[in-house]
Amino acid sequence: MLPIGPHTLRNRFILAPMAGVSEMPFRVLAFEQGAALCPTELISAQGLFRINTRTLRYLRYDKNVEKPYSLQLFGGEPEVMARAAVIAKEYGAQIIDINMGCPVKKVTKTGAGSGLLCDPPRAGEIVRQIREATGLPVTVKIRTGWEMSSKNYLQMADMLGAAGCAALAMHGRTRAQGYSGKADWGDIAALKKHVGNAFPIIGNGDVKTVADAVRMLEQTGCDYVMIGRGALGNPWIFRELLGGPRPTNEERCTLVLRHFRWHLTFSAEARVHREELPPEQRARKDEQQAVHAFRSHLAWYAHGLHGASAFRARVNTVDNKKDIEDALEKFFLGANVDDAVGPESEPELDYRTALG
Ligand SMILES: Cc1cc2nc3c(=O)[nH]c(=O)nc-3n(C[C@H](O)[C@H](O)[C@H](O)COP(=O)(O)O)c2cc1C
Repeated sequence: MLPIGPHTLRNRFILAPMAGVSEMPFRVLAFEQGAALCPTELISAQGLFRINTRTLRYLRYDKNVEKPYSLQLFGGEPEVMARAAVIAKEYGAQIIDINMGCPVKKVTKTGAGSGLLCDPPRAGEIVRQIREATGLPVTVKIRTGWEMSSKNYLQMADMLGAAGCAALAMHGRTRAQGYSGKADWGDIAALKKHVGNAFPIIGNGDVKTVADAVRMLEQTGCDYVMIGRGALGNPWIFRELLGGPRPTNEERCTLVLRHFRWHLTFSAEARVHREELPPEQRARKDEQQAVHAFRSHLAWYAHGLHGASAFRARVNTVDNKKDIEDALEKFFLGANVDDAVGPESEPELDYRTALG
């Protein structure tokens, strides 16, 4: 298995960076279930210069578990990115991952995210300057191109490789495709063939099951498989990928409860307070906001289980810790795994704004 810079990963399975999801609690849960690497969600290079409570929320990590700690940056200017990467290193980053896939207009119009696919020399310069400024391994995550008529992932690989990138992850869709259609694993295979063993290729897109991951490795020859939506509400996918069992009801319940409680404390520590409120009211408001933000996780955890829609309806009507805990214990302890109706029979979930 090709290492990523100086880091030899323990297996081939990586959690995809996901905004609003890949915060420290979820990353640690995924690591504990066997994921070999869990990059942070995208962090603004500009944001790192005026570090506030909100940015700190993204930077927090568990140094005992997150080994190595990979931090994803977005930005379009090589000098700015390099200065931000130096700050990221001071906060503990051991790998700098660069987002060159985000399709969101607000990001691309500044030349960042998938905007960099339109300027391969600048993309290479970003890698070079970050490497020189930090001495850290720099990985990059791209899409196959800006649009079908301008797929340029091989050219990107050449530029990034010449700049010394330590690994390249590719989501097998163009920026214009968003999440429509199917990820083109043929493109991932072509990328791996082109790059050979110069640096590792991380295949990404539409891996939802263990069988998908095995197929991706076989069909593309990629070095690592990156899993995003398939891990939402299912961090156990990493354990299953390593031959482990599906979770029991008790395990499922314990993990969801732990994630929920951790999310509450994590959010409270990083809360940005814009208004003066008496402490009690403020605590209540924090709790409400954190509960709201966790609803999507609860929906993902319940996805495909018998009675999921009634459970979602229930948790969408309560906004305090105690009621959520009661509802989730009742649901997950009772959710007989054999009762699982399978994700196929439920409609696709709404993934908020997917950013890569
Ligand atoms: C909710 C959500 C948030 C995302 N946020 C990011 C992000 O911050 N950075 C990034 O590079 N990709 C982001 N992505 C894209 C994923 O990393 C991944 O490339 C994409 O979901 C395809 O993989 P999948 O089919 O396994 O989900 C996000 C995706 C989702 C669903």
